[in-house]
Amino acid sequence: VGDRICLTPPMGWNSWNCWGLKVDEQKVKDAADFMADKLRNHGWSYINIDDGWEAAKRTADSTLNGNEKFPDFGRLCSYVHDKGLRFGIYSSPGPATCGGHLGSYGFEQKDADTWAAWGVDFLKYDYCYYSKIAPVPTEELIKQPYEVMRHALDKVPRDIVYCVGYGAPRVWYWGQEAGGNLWRTTRDITDDWNIVTAIGCFQDVCAPVIRPGCYNDPDMLVVGKLGLGWGEKVHNSHLTPDEQYSHVSLWCLQSAPLLIGCDLSEIDDFTLGLLTNDEVIAVDQDPLVMPVKKLVTPEGQIWYKYLEDGSVAVGLFNVDPYFILWDKGQAESIQTRKQTMTLDLSQLGLKGKFAVRDLWRQQDIGSFENHFSAQVPYHGVCLVKLTPVK
Ligand code: GLA
Repeated sequence: VGDRICLTPPMGWNSWNCWGLKVDEQKVKDAADFMADKLRNHGWSYINIDDGWEAAKRTADSTLNGNEKFPDFGRLCSYVHDKGLRFGIYSSPGPATCGGHLGSYGFEQKDADTWAAWGVDFLKYDYCYYSKIAPVPTEELIKQPYEVMRHALDKVPRDIVYCVGYGAPRVWYWGQEAGGNLWRTTRDITDDWNIVTAIGCFQDVCAPVIRPGCYNDPDMLVVGKLGLGWGEKVHNSHLTPDEQYSHVSLWCLQSAPLLIGCDLSEIDDFTLGLLTNDEVIAVDQDPLVMPVKKLVTPEGQIWYKYLEDGSVAVGLFNVDPYFILWDKGQAESIQTRKQTMTLDLSQLGLKGKFAVRDLWRQQDIGSFENHFSAQVPYHGVCLVKLTPVK
């Protein structure tokens, strides 16, 4: 499976972090309109509905249709496809989903057939409520229902990207064996810097398993207007602008699936800029899908990835190097400062002269030998590309 579809990480939108269970057809169409208009040309293509679409009961022939908010999925899929986009759906291997709706347990083939007939291109298959079936969830037992759905998806006449869902222990070791294209490595993300770094700065541990068609999924991008997924009022991301640059940079260096969590219809220029910088997106979409590596220095963390054209993408992150969750007051006294961060090229296994380009600013900085230093704002990043100079 892994070497057949989604050979670079999927890029799209997911309804959960902005709409939660209150997602409806119009909101999905609005997201598709916006994506087609402003994002598609930058590589964005998936419009993924998360939990909250399911009818309360299956029909007499066991079909699980949409609830009153989704009267006709075939029509909605066509709407999305007609805009040159792809359509994603959500379910769980248990009898219920994480949001308490009907899950696919016992109806896996029926559901796969239904989704294929609608025109679904992506499935997020969450884990909740399978514990009712396997009360002591060993790794083997957790993997099984994912294999059942894999077999069901293999029987439908349609390619469906398969996301092995949430919070399953050590999923990066078995997600690929279970036939997943991506798997959620970590807990649900929120727009809290400690959570974003707890999730993001851990991903070097699972990085070695990725390859074209198989990705670690550190969860959605918590930029822009968010809220209802958490039962909160819609609000601007609590991450500062520098924290948002760091968040997107780290996800791109990790070849993470990029799934926008915000309300697209309310997007501001800053957020649009974050999501449409082609040089930054190219780091995420690099076809080699090389695993990212992390270096810890006294000033922060350096993450780097080798790219297909022989260059190296490097992020100098002004984050707590050892990644201790200070309380807010302490953190501010310790780290509220710009840092000069220095990259010793030999630490990356590089020798000679390199041209350095700042990817967020899309500007050449100059040529450097052995070392490169940059001023990095508090919780911010300097994301650069190093190209050998002959
Ligand atoms: C879990 C997942 C979230 C979302 C909800 C839906 O919490 O991790 O991403 O899909 O379920 O109920």
